[in-house]
Amino acid sequence: MQKSTVCVVGLGYIGLPTAALLASNGFNVVGVDLNAHAVETINQGRIHIVEPDLDAFVRSAVAAGRLKAYAKPEAADIYMICVPTPFHEGEGIPQPNVDYVLSATRSIAEFVKPGDLVILESTSPVGTTQQMADMLAQAGVDVAKIHVAYCPERVLPGKIMTELVENDRVVGGLTSEATQAVSGFYRTFVRGAVLETDAKTAEMCKLTENSFRDVNIAFANELSLICAKEGINVWNLIQLANRHPRVNILQPGAGVGGHCIAVDPWFIVARDPENARLIRTAREVNNHKTVWAIEQIKIAVADASARTGRKPKVACLGLAFKPDIDDLRESPAVHIAEALFSQGYDVVAVEPNIESHERFPLVTLEVALKTADVLAVLVKHRSFLDAAAKMALGERGALDFCGVLTD
Ligand SMILES: NC(=O)c1ccc[n+]([C@@H]2O[C@H](COP(=O)([O-])OP(=O)(O)OC[C@H]3O[C@@H](n4cnc5c(N)ncnc54)[C@H](O)[C@@H]3O)[C@@H](O)[C@H]2O)c1
Repeated sequence: MQKSTVCVVGLGYIGLPTAALLASNGFNVVGVDLNAHAVETINQGRIHIVEPDLDAFVRSAVAAGRLKAYAKPEAADIYMICVPTPFHEGEGIPQPNVDYVLSATRSIAEFVKPGDLVILESTSPVGTTQQMADMLAQAGVDVAKIHVAYCPERVLPGKIMTELVENDRVVGGLTSEATQAVSGFYRTFVRGAVLETDAKTAEMCKLTENSFRDVNIAFANELSLICAKEGINVWNLIQLANRHPRVNILQPGAGVGGHCIAVDPWFIVARDPENARLIRTAREVNNHKTVWAIEQIKIAVADASARTGRKPKVACLGLAFKPDIDDLRESPAVHIAEALFSQGYDVVAVEPNIESHERFPLVTLEVALKTADVLAVLVKHRSFLDAAAKMALGERGALDFCGVLTD
């Protein structure tokens, strides 16, 4: 049987793996991206992002003629929107920026015909799926005859090709027919459960998942400040508390980063600031933890300066937003290193997952241990957990913001 054609708009960390997986399931896939380099690379059967196993999927999909990338949408039966949803920077509560979603929706409008599915996968504020439908209606699409739904993505970078298939999915249509039609499509390639709801609940579900983690981490970060004053090791404390059968506290760190957990809770707060008080406070607690870490490092530098009589060198251990990845987006560790650097501190960084950095000299852990006066462990990378590294860091009195020395 001839399978439908799917048009995937946005070929980044979410869109490209989805497009390649659909192609491997027999769909004809039209991939669309504004980034000419991405389009060209994909059409050569190669990838422009780092993700295990993705290259093999893309290579075979392109070779089989099932995946082709374009700069603009083409006619299809199913449209999936996987574009970024950042927030607008500025004073006050950060406001979600759905401009990419709306612009992608505008770009498909001329092709959408009765019976088609239009799916939003980007993490979005409540009401965005309806906004998309309104925009399609304005562009002349008979929205009563199409199926519009939201289906959030929950994959973990580094495991995307597995999780796209194995994870449970939540599908929320603007109508119950849309929910059913879109769920039916996901069931053709997802092995996890496909759970049906309405669009607003599905939108809120994704934001809830990330806000839950942010609030839990904020609790851990708040405990870490209280424990620092009391002289209690917070990692030992949490380990003990988590032995209670109904307690599960996440780990404190130098803050919360990345483009999901540090961003998505604001989508709830921006829409309902009056009620989203805990969620907002959690964001503020996690951001404050980064400011506190900077202050702790400055105190250690002042001590070292008084001791040695010269300008101390600070080594920031880790720059990524979480352990063992090369992604520096919204990273508290980068924020800390940049804050120190811009205030005239002598900063070097140890980041084993990248080759170079535009701002800071990168050195090895061995060099940092030999040359730095203050060592600040900001990310729990595997290489810092090595027994010899831990011993050396302990002996040098490293400031441990992520529990490396306790692990
Ligand atoms: N990356 C993740 O781990 C992850 C996990 C869950 C959810 N999400 C969400 O998925 C969405 C996409 O994230 P991502 O990480 O894939 O982003 P990304 O930046 O890696 O990729 C998005 C792509 O969309 C393209 N694009 C932007 N506007 C376009 C348009 N109008 N037409 C065509 N292409 C366009 C960009 O050029 C880019 O290549 C976001 O809402 C994000 O929050 C991401």
